[in-house]
Amino acid sequence: MKFFIDTAEIEEIKSLSELGLVDGVTTNPSLIYKSGKDFKKVIKEISTIVEGPISAEVTSTESKEMINQGIELAKISSNIVVKVPLTVDGLIACKKLSTNNIKVNVTLCFSAAQALLAGKLGATYISPFIGRLDDIGTTGLNLIREIVDMYNTYKKDIKTEVLAASIRSPLQVSQVASMGAHIATIPPKIIEKIENFG
Ligand code: E4P
Repeated sequence: MKFFIDTAEIEEIKSLSELGLVDGVTTNPSLIYKSGKDFKKVIKEISTIVEGPISAEVTSTESKEMINQGIELAKISSNIVVKVPLTVDGLIACKKLSTNNIKVNVTLCFSAAQALLAGKLGATYISPFIGRLDDIGTTGLNLIREIVDMYNTYKKDIKTEVLAASIRSPLQVSQVASMGAHIATIPPKIIEKIENFG
């Protein structure tokens, strides 16, 4: 299983990279805001540290602008993955960007049916948000199992990888691994907990 690091903090990315634990990075507007730095500069800086995929999220909610932003983000470095929300506009942008060979991470996925749409429209990654599902009183982990099973059934046609997101505990990391998620994106503080207590 691949580990992506869910942060925009350069020092955290550097130290975990040195440890060999960073297969990729996911960022979002809140994480970039927390870093206190300019959005494109942070993404550029991360791309000089990490060779694997780096998700950079569009900020528009309208498909044409998402596509324009995605094209601009993809120019920053060859390993940029454009992150779009799972909305109708986001799915339109996913299709267009994927058709133009730009990798897309469809984020904010809350159901297997949504994941099916993203898969059919060429998403490179689907990000089901397990922690946020737990927050509203459902079991987020069930969604990982459903999507993994569904994509496996159609693996000839759907090449999308399951990127388990919104992870809140070390236990969830091993649980999504057991369920066959291709990737877990993990906040550095959760990795620290795994290192210290397992
Ligand atoms: C991943 O790409 C997301 O940015 C992240 O996992 C969101 O997690 P949260 O629910 O803790 O905000």
